[in-house]
Amino acid sequence: MLGRTHRNRSAVTCHLKCDSACAHPASNTSSEASFAEIASRQLSRRSLLAATGSLAAAAGLPTFLTACTPSEPKGSAGRRESSTGQHAGLDFDPIAPVPDGVDALTVPNGYRWTPILRWGDPLFAHSPDFDPEAPDGRAQELQFGYNNDFLAIMDIDRRGRSALLCCNHEFTNRAIMFPPAASETEERAAFQATMAAQGFSVVELERSGLHQPWRYVRGAPRNRRITARTRFTLTGPAAGTDLVKTAKDRTGRRVSGTFGNCSGSTTPWGTVLSGEENFDAYFITDSAAFGSRRYGLKSKPSVYGWEAIEPRFDATQPDYAAEPHRFGYIVEIDPHDPESTPRKHTALGRFKHEGANLRVDDDGTVAAYMGDDERFEYLYKFVARKKYRRGSSAAARRHNLRLLTEGDLYVARFSGSQQPGNDNLGQGAWIPLTLNGKSAVPGMTHEEVLVFTRAAADRVKATPMDRCEDVQPSPRTGKIYVACTNNRERGEDGKPGPDAANPREINKNGHIIEITERNNRAGATSFSWDLFLVCGDADQAGTYFGGWKGPVAPISCPDNLAFDSVGNLWIATDGAPASISKADGLFRVPLEGDERGHLVQFLAVPYQAETCGPVIHDRDVSVFISVQHPGEEGSWDEQLSYFPDYVPPGAKPAAGAWRGPRPSVVQVTRDA
Ligand code: FEO
Ligand code: CA
Ligand code: CA
Repeated sequence: MLGRTHRNRSAVTCHLKCDSACAHPASNTSSEASFAEIASRQLSRRSLLAATGSLAAAAGLPTFLTACTPSEPKGSAGRRESSTGQHAGLDFDPIAPVPDGVDALTVPNGYRWTPILRWGDPLFAHSPDFDPEAPDGRAQELQFGYNNDFLAIMDIDRRGRSALLCCNHEFTNRAIMFPPAASETEERAAFQATMAAQGFSVVELERSGLHQPWRYVRGAPRNRRITARTRFTLTGPAAGTDLVKTAKDRTGRRVSGTFGNCSGSTTPWGTVLSGEENFDAYFITDSAAFGSRRYGLKSKPSVYGWEAIEPRFDATQPDYAAEPHRFGYIVEIDPHDPESTPRKHTALGRFKHEGANLRVDDDGTVAAYMGDDERFEYLYKFVARKKYRRGSSAAARRHNLRLLTEGDLYVARFSGSQQPGNDNLGQGAWIPLTLNGKSAVPGMTHEEVLVFTRAAADRVKATPMDRCEDVQPSPRTGKIYVACTNNRERGEDGKPGPDAANPREINKNGHIIEITERNNRAGATSFSWDLFLVCGDADQAGTYFGGWKGPVAPISCPDNLAFDSVGNLWIATDGAPASISKADGLFRVPLEGDERGHLVQFLAVPYQAETCGPVIHDRDVSVFISVQHPGEEGSWDEQLSYFPDYVPPGAKPAAGAWRGPRPSVVQVTRDA
């Protein structure tokens, strides 16, 4: 068994998630420069219903609205009211930090947790029962996938009794999912199953009433699995160009599948965006080919071995040399229409996309904020060429569905000399990579910028960051929050040293940057910024919590971000065990007022798990999370987590249960 690395994650997850990127030289060896209210008016529910075509299709509230739905329960325990009688967010007694060896999901007193969907749960009437003893791709593509990450819960009726769950399945861990293969046939079956276990799920939920746990609806009409083989359409300026054509797709517009999907978001027009992140781990390539080194693509067998069953994953073959160019995009999925063809948007660039989060201004300007999650990579913004169109017509929806196919792509350059806690604001610029339908990078064509985006950003001297994960606009203020999860190579010999926006050497614990766009406009080309959190245990030198001087929860490696209905930031972590010896968790921190920076912990996840995809429905006293990779360092014969079924040793599992770790989507609600 691989041991825990000196990095922030276990060696197993490093290998599977990103081909142990931290063990290889950083892809960016460039030594170049290191240096209103959110205006989206609330869509009326009625217009959205019409926009999505039917009542049943009406789940498309944007992220900043879903936190406020469904209709607010009266006199609810678990929600707070301020002295003015206004809703004041979720009421809970923070938990104490949990040591990293505990195989339990810990929630505040008075709350309970319930799994909604577990790996292998049957989604369709004809889905086979979950049986990890016999991996089967056809069965798996009819079941909930593995390692759920990004999560959206979209309400689809007025009473709060029906919802759509949308979820990424980022990666697979064959060693703990299935028994060792006794033959080549069995190993091929395991490859098929892992291909079917990645991608995306859409699943309908129902419940008997407010505050009650959700159940998923087997066989519901909108249930859908998207896998490594689902047909996608490539859109935008690079679609149809030679850079993305293969022998199997002379059009350069039809791509098979998605994988490595990490974080995401919802759009005001009712779709979901999902980021293709560590796609390099899936290919064997010619490492000397242009772009390979810059994306970590290597001339060695892939981490997942899928080239054994599908030749397209062997990009050393001339027929498939461009196949890796067809991954690393933001994908858009319409969860209301199970027959729709999902799309990959080249206009938003190709890199290790953590995700994309939209801000829509009152003049209709649409901006997508995006992080490239690798050491010394960059922060990006896309501004759509056309404006968001309000209204309930089919034409408006058709228009909005095209918004991410053309626009300007920018990368961030930070400057400034401020330290945490002083009054200075840093300054920054959005440097154009594409502008007005053309390349803005000398020596690169438009399509080259969009397919080799990292190389383009190098040329304009963007600021290398400490691994940008979620980049989220606040729905209340429009400020942008950037989770820089960690970078233990910051300041090492030959690597960029600390700068104002990445202020620590050997950054083990990460930080969060707060950006204010110039004139608070989404389309601005400059901004000011400050450090909001410099994470760690508050006893450690150099930590900073937004100016708050009282006690705070220890926190390390911020990853996914979310907002509640009163504007607090919620932070999910990934990597705390290796940095501060605490289980990863979910935290809440106010952004404004006297409590700014007062960070408290809401929950902690089981042994070796990561907290992902928080969704905060505080008005409904509900919090949802994805629990990803519990027991990640185990083996088939020696499992290390039994979450969530917790079948006792020697006991006969109940129907559908298993004595082994199952990544799951969980709802936390107030005790009845
Ligand atoms: Fe999949 Fe950037 O975490
Ligand atoms: Ca992440
Ligand atoms: Ca992460």
